[in-house]
Amino acid sequence: MRKVHLITFGCQMNKLDSELAAEALAAAGYALTDREAEAEVVVFNTCSVRDHAERRVLSRLAGLRSRREAEPEFRLGLMGCFAERDGEGLLARLPYLDFALGTRQFARLPEIIAGLYPGGRRAGFFGGREGEAPGVGRASPRGRHRGPQAFVSVMRGCGNRCSYCVVPRVRGGETSRSPAEVIGEIRSLVLNGTREAILLGQNIDAYDRGGGGLAGLLRRIDREVPEETGLVRLRFVTSHPRDIGRELAATVRELPRAARHFHMPAQSGSDAVLARMRRGYDRAAYEDKLAMLREEVPGALVASDFIVGFPGETEGDFLATLDLVERAGFQNCYVFKYSPRPGTPAARDFPDDVPEGEKRRRHREILAAQDRVNRRRGDGLRGSRLRVLAEGPSPRDPGRWIGRTGENLICVFPPPETGGDPAGRLLEVEVLSSTSLTLFCRVAGEAGREPGKDAP
Ligand code: 5AD
Ligand code: SF4
Repeated sequence: MRKVHLITFGCQMNKLDSELAAEALAAAGYALTDREAEAEVVVFNTCSVRDHAERRVLSRLAGLRSRREAEPEFRLGLMGCFAERDGEGLLARLPYLDFALGTRQFARLPEIIAGLYPGGRRAGFFGGREGEAPGVGRASPRGRHRGPQAFVSVMRGCGNRCSYCVVPRVRGGETSRSPAEVIGEIRSLVLNGTREAILLGQNIDAYDRGGGGLAGLLRRIDREVPEETGLVRLRFVTSHPRDIGRELAATVRELPRAARHFHMPAQSGSDAVLARMRRGYDRAAYEDKLAMLREEVPGALVASDFIVGFPGETEGDFLATLDLVERAGFQNCYVFKYSPRPGTPAARDFPDDVPEGEKRRRHREILAAQDRVNRRRGDGLRGSRLRVLAEGPSPRDPGRWIGRTGENLICVFPPPETGGDPAGRLLEVEVLSSTSLTLFCRVAGEAGREPGKDAP
């Protein structure tokens, strides 16, 4: 049994792809190992969204070069977005790299690795749009658990053309999976202990199979995987502000198990920047969507992404973004410094003209503003009762447990003494104190139905 070690960079979709690749490898008789030192094959699942993500992979790869040259049986490969974007170039530049598999080819990983032995031939580059449909590796969802949660891809690729983004190029156009396939996968995950399914799509509101869009899919999952199966919560990411609609929001309100949380990246609060980003909405339209979500789903929280230092971003543009963050009361903000990506319209058309130090300052200020929002919310929640799905021991303090509310708020609490293993249980907790990202709680009891749309 050859031992394979997978190292994952990038987004949730990449994490899922690594899990699927691991399943395919295990089914083909490979042993997965967490320890790089004992692996005969190391595969990096790569990200291309920013230059930094690519550079990290290159430096990790370079660190393994001497081992590749010294050990006759040791092999190195790439999969994922960077492999898709530049696999051929990388193989030409890095003689110690054995293969690069594009984003839609990873189901072939076992076959490609088998082809490397015996003899030590390089396998080369496998890319392009043709290849496995999204449902690869469904055979056995072992190893798919992150505590009680599991990712399920419902669509892949992206049909938008945001000017800064490499994703449409490296992951191709949109393809949705059929509801039957998605539901079959959720059922088998639930049989293996999953309590919360996190549906993934780069632009999930564009889901278009089975009628009724994403709202239709959620309703079907709700009907066909009832609560008695053990599935207590459903989430989905990521929503595009232009595409997310009232019908979907109403569905989230009506389904007790749908989490009251949306990830709807704004990217900027300035109309001029949004236009150059080709996002397809302006500031007012974004704020209308926020208001719509809150009206339809009382108590819902929304998370956002922002890019600072986009070409031509003035101090005024930046202040508009800061203002949006201060007013919107996001659950969380993921803030990124603009990074020109080869082949994108922004990299071609606009000089990367905001100095690095300025990007850093803007990055810091947006995070500080969100930090203030989080602290205010935490203070306001003190004394209130929330329903959390318990996940497992806190990585920082193994004596305490961590769990999440439907709104994606992170709670830390001493595990309950009764009822056995708390993992996967819905608990009612009372908030005692908070920091920006964590609510410190005590367990007040078992919670009933999730997510308690009547909860405070
Ligand atoms: N530079 C910086 N951030 C980017 N993102 C996407 N492309 C770029 C880029 N070229 C950010 C966006 C997106 C998140 C996943 O990454 O905010 O929502
Ligand atoms: Fe995910 Fe985009 Fe990075 Fe690919 S490039 S791993 S889709 S974030």
